[in-house]
Amino acid sequence: MKVDTYWENLFHQSEPHQIGVVKASGKLVNQDRLSAIVEGFNELDNEHDIILPLVIGGGPQYDKLPAFQNSSKVNGIRITNEALLDELVPAAKQNLDYVVDAFQENNIEAVAMPFSVFRTVPHGVEINDSGERINTGYVGDVLHVDTAPIIDAIHDGKVPVISHLGQDNTGQVYNINATPAAADLVKSLDAYKLILLGDTAIKDSKGDKISEIRSKVTLNKLIADNVIKDGMKLNALEAYQLLEQMGYGRSVQITTAENLVAELLTDGAGTIIRMPYIIQTYSRPEAFSKHHGIENITNLFNEGFVHRGEQLMENYWKGHSINESHPINKIYVDAGKTSGAVMRDFYGIKIMCKLSTHPDIQGSGLGTQIMERIALDYPEGYMGRTKTEDNNSSIQFYEKFLNSFKGNELHKAGMFTGAEKVKNYWIFGVNIDKDKFDQYKAKFANLAPTITECSRIYK
Ligand SMILES: CC(C)(COP(=O)(O)OP(=O)(O)OC[C@H]1O[C@@H](n2cnc3c(N)ncnc32)[C@H](O)[C@@H]1OP(=O)(O)O)[C@@H](O)C(=O)NCCC(=O)NCCS
Repeated sequence: MKVDTYWENLFHQSEPHQIGVVKASGKLVNQDRLSAIVEGFNELDNEHDIILPLVIGGGPQYDKLPAFQNSSKVNGIRITNEALLDELVPAAKQNLDYVVDAFQENNIEAVAMPFSVFRTVPHGVEINDSGERINTGYVGDVLHVDTAPIIDAIHDGKVPVISHLGQDNTGQVYNINATPAAADLVKSLDAYKLILLGDTAIKDSKGDKISEIRSKVTLNKLIADNVIKDGMKLNALEAYQLLEQMGYGRSVQITTAENLVAELLTDGAGTIIRMPYIIQTYSRPEAFSKHHGIENITNLFNEGFVHRGEQLMENYWKGHSINESHPINKIYVDAGKTSGAVMRDFYGIKIMCKLSTHPDIQGSGLGTQIMERIALDYPEGYMGRTKTEDNNSSIQFYEKFLNSFKGNELHKAGMFTGAEKVKNYWIFGVNIDKDKFDQYKAKFANLAPTITECSRIYK
């Protein structure tokens, strides 16, 4: 299996507890289904040195509990009285032990986490359809997560197995919804991914898998066009809610137990729902940091290029002839300050003259998001260039981008989106009139260089 560059970078630079969290629905806690999860964890541990926390939801094991059978739901929440809680506690412990044993039998070290990792407060009252106030009893919401035992387990090479029960500061146990609790865990660990196992990927109305949903706008459009409907619509909306809870730059991935490893390490086997990054715009480089002048924005761009052995020319922002003839029109930077692009005026058209993402974040979709945002902001299209040199793997990025852009709703019929090699450059156009592209491509290739070799090269 070929591991994605983005993940390779993350593995090298993140703490082991920052990779992600797996949540398995309780219906996977049986011999047949659990073996697929165990296999996946085994491969992650042995071949990639990755250990993920596993949160186990409630499942069919509870159906036969008498108090469970007598219980009811309000607004999708299971009202949990004392009798039900008394039955849930041993049943949830049994589930944890069952999962831990399954791991141990396959020579993977695992440890059941105490309920207190989810520090809980009472959920309180829900208002039902008839306007009545219904007390949900011992249903809890996560106040915060005690990450210490989870991080310890991961650092000790053991899979932390976590239940959907939490505790308040007096030790009172509460029943919590495992999925949002797993999202809280992602946030508390400052991890990147929440992988929901057990459900099928999101499918369109024809039954074809939707691999990626990159924003709320895309999701709303898929729903409005009836591409996603009924139960799939609810799954997708719920997943997006989790994403909003976790924050930008993170992802929710929905897949089956069999696809866990592929989901984590490759382009994915299920549906990935991403929270788009926040993109800021600036009209001049000095405005980026009042305190540090242009140093910060220079570093931001150089971080991406230094791995290519290059950096911005010293006079890129001031003093380079490009600033006289082709002034900056807009600078795009994500709020996390890890990726940026510079747009310039060029004989009446717009050119992208620099695009860079910090190596830690490369492959997470930022470059694509910025390129798409620029396509939205410049309806008349734009051009860009990159050197045709062996050390410049960004051509692969642009090829991917241009190919997928052509199948995207932002692509304009009749306009050119593609690339041509001109002299030492690879010149590309996005949504641009082809005659203009042909008219300016040679001029663009002749434009004086704006990056130069740098001494600082690291891997
Ligand atoms: C080119 C660059 C800006 C792309 O930014 P990014 O934020 O990593 O882009 P995305 O995350 O949107 O990547 C989209 C896809 O391109 C791939 N990709 C990104 N950079 C790549 C690179 N340098 N080599 C090969 N593939 C790359 C990603 O893996 C991802 O693939 P996937 O969709 O199969 O997962 C970034 O790689 C970079 O800063 N490179 C160094 C500076 C540079 O060369 N700039 C452009 C020259 S002007």
